Amino acid sequence: MPTVDELEAAARATLPAEVYDFFAGGADGEVTLAANKAAWERVRLRPRAFAGDVPTGTELLGLRLSHPVGVAPMGYQGLLHPEAELATACGAGTAGALSVVSTRSSRSLEEIAAAAPNAPRWFQVYVLRDRRLTAEVVERAAAAGYCALVLTGDTPVLGRKLRDARNGFVIPEEHARGNLSVPRHSDGAMQDPAISFESISWLRGLSGLPVLVKGVLRADDARLCLDAGAAGVIVSNHGGRQLDGAIATAEALPEVVAEVAGAAAVLVDGGVDSATDVQRALALGADAVLVGRPVAWALAVGGADAVAELLSDLAVA
Ligand SMILES: Cc1cc2nc3c(=O)[nH]c(=O)nc-3n(C[C@H](O)[C@H](O)[C@H](O)COP(=O)(O)O)c2cc1C
Repeated sequence: MPTVDELEAAARATLPAEVYDFFAGGADGEVTLAANKAAWERVRLRPRAFAGDVPTGTELLGLRLSHPVGVAPMGYQGLLHPEAELATACGAGTAGALSVVSTRSSRSLEEIAAAAPNAPRWFQVYVLRDRRLTAEVVERAAAAGYCALVLTGDTPVLGRKLRDARNGFVIPEEHARGNLSVPRHSDGAMQDPAISFESISWLRGLSGLPVLVKGVLRADDARLCLDAGAAGVIVSNHGGRQLDGAIATAEALPEVVAEVAGAAAVLVDGGVDSATDVQRALALGADAVLVGRPVAWALAVGGADAVAELLSDLAVA
């Protein structure tokens, strides 16, 4: 049972340095990246006496899950392993964990669904400048059995990643086009900076699926999401890859929980790398927790089996 630090070290030893940096890095001075981890460590638990063996099963927006730990959406997984998101989906499926598949996946959303047909899965949406292209992808996700949409709201423009600039790293096109028929840098395939809360009802109407908003760090935004028809929010700062200096997710979670928990699903991600961190997030009121980079390291080191082992380890209560 390797720790996440051990998995990261092993992945770092096998991946090309610029690929490791692309996954590991954050925006600008990487202050928020570091703050995410530090903030979980500051949360102290108050365990109950005689708590017994607590069952981990949960239900999220009507989906039955073995435990409240899932895979955060991460694009470009072909850089990590030849089976890319297919291996991640299989590993998550084995662990009974939710997977959130990115718009920017290396493999198509249909292939991913077919690789793990019984695994619980949601689809992450970037609203692209070409709305017809966006609508096509969303309709495909609904047809392929994805149970909810995750609308990312913290990426109006891309964060500045200094490691990638120094390495001269550009994402190879063959790992960026699982779902899109047009080049990543073409105008229509770029994320639209002009989206708003109205995109929530647009996506809901297109797909008939519940919509969660990812990238919420404030109670007032969480309320606006619900008022606009969202079924849930994901407290996230994109793993410190977007606005550097943004609040750590463990610090933002309590105000979001106080505002909307009970009325909507509240998930959190960012810097979660142990079963204790998962318990901290649940203790602060999250319904479930997503993990990003730890899954990337597991995938790079050991494919589907390592992903399954990691998710099962994180879920131990
Ligand atoms: C390489 C990489 C690619 C990502 N791609 C996406 C994406 O396509 N869509 C999205 O909403 N978030 C994306 N994220 C952000 C993750 O979903 C998640 O918010 C973040 O990684 C969580 O933090 P953690 O890695 O510390 O667990 C990406 C993160 C990484 C590291």
